[in-house]
Amino acid sequence: MSAGAGAARRRVDVRVVGIGPGGVDQLTVEAVAALNAVDVFVVADKGAASADLRRLREAILVHHRTGPYEVVDVADPERDRGRAVAADAAAYDRAVTDWHDARAEAYEEVLAGLPEGTVAGFLVWGDPALYDSTLRILDRIAARGLVAPVVGVVPGVSAVSLLAARHGLVLNQVGSALTITTMRRLRDHADAGHDNLVVVLAADAPPVDLPGEWDVWWGGNLGTDGELLLAGPLRDVAPRIADARQALRTEHGWVMDTSLLRRHG
Ligand SMILES: C[S@@+](CC[C@H](N)C(=O)[O-])C[C@H]1O[C@@H](n2cnc3c(N)ncnc32)[C@H](O)[C@@H]1O
Repeated sequence: MSAGAGAARRRVDVRVVGIGPGGVDQLTVEAVAALNAVDVFVVADKGAASADLRRLREAILVHHRTGPYEVVDVADPERDRGRAVAADAAAYDRAVTDWHDARAEAYEEVLAGLPEGTVAGFLVWGDPALYDSTLRILDRIAARGLVAPVVGVVPGVSAVSLLAARHGLVLNQVGSALTITTMRRLRDHADAGHDNLVVVLAADAPPVDLPGEWDVWWGGNLGTDGELLLAGPLRDVAPRIADARQALRTEHGWVMDTSLLRRHG
């Protein structure tokens, strides 16, 4: 749907707030102030699978928010995660684009229905600037033409920052590059000669057959009560990462992990 010719676009004040990777202690003072300026939080409802993540978000609000607030749950549209999509980069990009379009439509409906002057808030896991699509979806909403989101972004502590802090690491080596990528793309980057990589969005432990010798620094469910850390030569640590991932999933119902992989030979 787009606004008819000459129709005034509805301006909606939106705060996109980075809330850190799970713990109530990983929010900045600016993020807490932003949470307290929001009237209505718009939250993607991903069903039972994300119940524990939802509980963590609620704990953050209970801890930091003063005064009443409203939450609008938006059923998260289905995303195609079929075999063809997993195997083919173009199909993967198309599936993500379709999913973002469906999300934009759903969020637009909520924003368009808010009373005049309402401040809407999106709570973004970690930092909105890293592997998160909230800002892209708000751009799509703006492009659709019905509402004009006026967006303020508050950065958050990313899982990447917390991984580095927990291991006492400097992510880049002196004068060298750091590649931040997904587990899907890890092998391509390693083959292309990148040798200092942060890896997110893993569905498994990192593969041990990358070219060369690697060390790994790993963190699972960082910032939460279940946080686990492992580090050492990739060949030795990868099986322990697989076990730790399984243990986190069994105990908490979810696992999110981030790794630094560094080639030394
Ligand atoms: C969609 S990305 C979101 C990243 C987020 N915007 C950030 O700045 O951390 C999700 C990925 O971030 C990483 N991640 C998020 N929360 C994490 C946590 N508590 N512990 C470890 N890794 C986490 C994992 O790699 C996960 O697959």
